[in-house]
Amino acid sequence: MNILMVASECVPFVKVGGLADVVGTLPKYLKELGHNVKIILPKYKSIDGKKYNLQTLPFRLNVQVGKSTQSFRIKYCKTKDKIEVYFIENMHFFNRIGVYGNAGLDYSDNKERYIFFCRAVLESVKALMFRPDIIHCNDWQTGLIPAYLKTNLKNDGFFWSTSCVFTIHNIAYQGQFSASTIEEAGFSWEDFTPDKLEYYNSVNFMKCGIAMADAVSTVSPTYAKEIKEFNGRGMEGVLNSRHDEIYGILNGIDYDYWNPLTDKYIAANYDKNKLNNKKLCKKDLQKKCGFKVSDNMHLFGCVSRLDNQKGFDIIIDALYSLKDCDMQFVILGSGDNEIRDKLKKAALNMPKKVAVFFDYDEKLAHKIYAGCDSYMMPSRFEPCGLSQMIALAYGTIPIVNRTGGLADTIEYYNHFTKEGNGFVFNITYGENFVQTVLKSDKIFKNKQNWNTLMLNALNSNFSWDKSIFKYEKMYNNLVVNKLKETIFSRS
Ligand code: ADP
Ligand code: GLC
Repeated sequence: MNILMVASECVPFVKVGGLADVVGTLPKYLKELGHNVKIILPKYKSIDGKKYNLQTLPFRLNVQVGKSTQSFRIKYCKTKDKIEVYFIENMHFFNRIGVYGNAGLDYSDNKERYIFFCRAVLESVKALMFRPDIIHCNDWQTGLIPAYLKTNLKNDGFFWSTSCVFTIHNIAYQGQFSASTIEEAGFSWEDFTPDKLEYYNSVNFMKCGIAMADAVSTVSPTYAKEIKEFNGRGMEGVLNSRHDEIYGILNGIDYDYWNPLTDKYIAANYDKNKLNNKKLCKKDLQKKCGFKVSDNMHLFGCVSRLDNQKGFDIIIDALYSLKDCDMQFVILGSGDNEIRDKLKKAALNMPKKVAVFFDYDEKLAHKIYAGCDSYMMPSRFEPCGLSQMIALAYGTIPIVNRTGGLADTIEYYNHFTKEGNGFVFNITYGENFVQTVLKSDKIFKNKQNWNTLMLNALNSNFSWDKSIFKYEKMYNNLVVNKLKETIFSRS
């Protein structure tokens, strides 16, 4: 199959959160199954052309955004797994410091930026003469692509065999703009109807993706259920109208990259046979944080976008409630300024117990995953979550709220049966994070139990091996349906 993966983030080129990990990893597994996969991304300023040896294709293309004609070039490289990656280069929209915004504020022209990107992607595949069987779109930034394919381009012969998948990584970000977006994006007012592009008299890119794609997926089975039932942020109606076509496919992580045995960023390498070396990583992290170096201190970590989604209000309250316990807390994050200020205040108040780093720092992230005993993820909602899976890969024990992908991956440790890989509480049932932390601390103090728990974590497996077949099956169904449609329409 020819598969085009379209997204606004992808490792190693540009990453804000887990979307980048997924888009950077999934194609590798699809390629292993024999598919011809290409990735297409915006060429942000932060993507270093020299580092990735980007080549520029010898032509320019144009697309219309509102009244302006935007010209662009296509850059190109191959990943170490020999996957072709194309970059849409337009100075006006993408040659900026941030990805979606700067200094905690979204760019005011994100609507125009991603109208441009969607149109440019569709022009580019034609220019590249790459006829995709599947265009796989991810999140609202790509939501207009299925809409163009079902409206303006529905009779375009180039796309006769193309089906479109839309994956929801986070329904909380929707890209909702005024009705006049119809004209700016070049759609016809005839398509401004509730079953197509209209959403409460506005244009919502997420809704367009959900309503117009041939199949819709999201990143865990529990989140698929939640967004249809109660957490769809206004999308419940359109999701339920496509009820049987919404797939919940759990993300995986790349165990070649997240591997404590080969990780070059951590103080000592380890695996389940050399678990003592994890203590050296803890020591190194305690020093970096300016904490007392002691294996008896229970060290908690968190690496995250600073966003209310992640339950930072819960974490901040816990820092104060637990200040007299033998516990230390290290947090690495970037994003919301209000959360940053509150964390800064806690660290200033309790410098020996709380360390915070406000940056995007890949190296420090690895040190935290490896050096901590426990990982805090009391997310209020979590479509999938990769951080808890990464923590497990490093033998670091997640403490999570039972929601979305966290519910699908973390099982409460039972010290009688010795089963389970973490600690789970349920905000909806009024269960409490601090109480759960205290329960985990009791297990931590029993070294034999903790050791069993670390081994359970290290033995947890969330690789792409299973999920990849679910994606392949979804694509196959679409290809077969498309063929049937074509045969029937011709007969
Ligand atoms: P989300 O996609 O909602 O941000 P995930 O748990 O799916 O949450 O993925 C987050 C990814 O981003 C993980 O790989 C995590 O390590 C990484 N990450 C988040 N914030 C930072 C940061 N400040 N520095 C380095 N890595 C980060
Ligand atoms: C989103 C979600 C996160 C998920 C990631 C990758 O950013 O917030 O839960 O793991 O996408 O799908």
